[in-house]
Amino acid sequence: MQPIKWERERLVLLDQTRLPHRQDWISCTTYREVVEAIKAMQVRGAPAIGIAAAFGVVLGAKEYAHLPAQSFQKRLQVIIAELAATRPTAVNLFWALEKMEQVAGKLAGQDPHLIVIELEKAAVQLTVEDLSVNRQIGNYGQQLFDFPARILTHCNAGALATAGYGTALGVIRAAHAAGKVQQVYADETRPLLQGARLTAWELVTEGIPVTLITDSMAGYLLQQKMVDLVIVGADRIASNGDVANKIGTYSLAVLAQTNNVPFYVAAPLSTFDLSISTGRDIPIEERDPREVTCIMGLSIAPEGVDVFNPAFDITPAQYVTAIITEAGVLRPPYREKIASLKSEKGKTG
Ligand code: MRU
Repeated sequence: MQPIKWERERLVLLDQTRLPHRQDWISCTTYREVVEAIKAMQVRGAPAIGIAAAFGVVLGAKEYAHLPAQSFQKRLQVIIAELAATRPTAVNLFWALEKMEQVAGKLAGQDPHLIVIELEKAAVQLTVEDLSVNRQIGNYGQQLFDFPARILTHCNAGALATAGYGTALGVIRAAHAAGKVQQVYADETRPLLQGARLTAWELVTEGIPVTLITDSMAGYLLQQKMVDLVIVGADRIASNGDVANKIGTYSLAVLAQTNNVPFYVAAPLSTFDLSISTGRDIPIEERDPREVTCIMGLSIAPEGVDVFNPAFDITPAQYVTAIITEAGVLRPPYREKIASLKSEKGKTG
């Protein structure tokens, strides 16, 4: 399943706000439509946001390719800034935009039409690489256990959140193919229900055994020894291994440690942010209060009630048993290992 399709003149996205009831594809022919799709979470999940934004740059560049070289570069900066302002927490967005900026920067002064061609190649390459990175993560992750496991996951770190296959769900897919999944428990993930609407849908569609629970049930399952391991994705990982992920991840990690259940984070190297020393420096997105007061358009709270709606939380590295990347599995202490992996990756691109 691949939720992002590039069709040269347009970016086609599987509308994730409509799943699981409808499989609607939306077509973006301008970068502004991509900006809106990211804000509205029609495309969501850290790697998927980065890929969509990269194609947003391509669409914007095409629109302004008639400009003289210098004005074109200025316009490109505006486009990139607008795409960067869509969602603040997942670092893959800024990582992908930086890659696109580098491609355009290297060709500064050249014919904009030529730059558009190179930007398009770069965005396609990001997509292809993400898919293969996820498969590598899946392969490393499934080697962490050798029995039919009962796995708890939170939010959606699946094919829908990436170019395809997924990070946390990539591990589950690879483990299932190796006969090592007894049961997946999916947290529903309030307020936007990515677990119920997206993760459960992906797994049901593929015939991977999944049981849906509400977020508040996770502690009980862990205490009752119904879960062998927890695997989640990440939106940003700080230099010390602190992890930003969907709200509720921190509670899950603390409960897992209290109940001696390993807590794994699956993420590509593009999710690590070495400019940030600890999780305290990661910006946490706050979203519309109506996401909390309404479920699927139906009001569940008194009119005018105060709401706090942080979309992510930080899990301190001390709760993370291991981080599964495309370059292997990292164990604590993380700081030096993260730094050396990232610098290795820098050498190879
Ligand atoms: O707000 P969302 O749905 O974009 O949040 C997604 C998550 O928190 C995922 O776990 C994370 O992006 C990893 S996706 C491979």
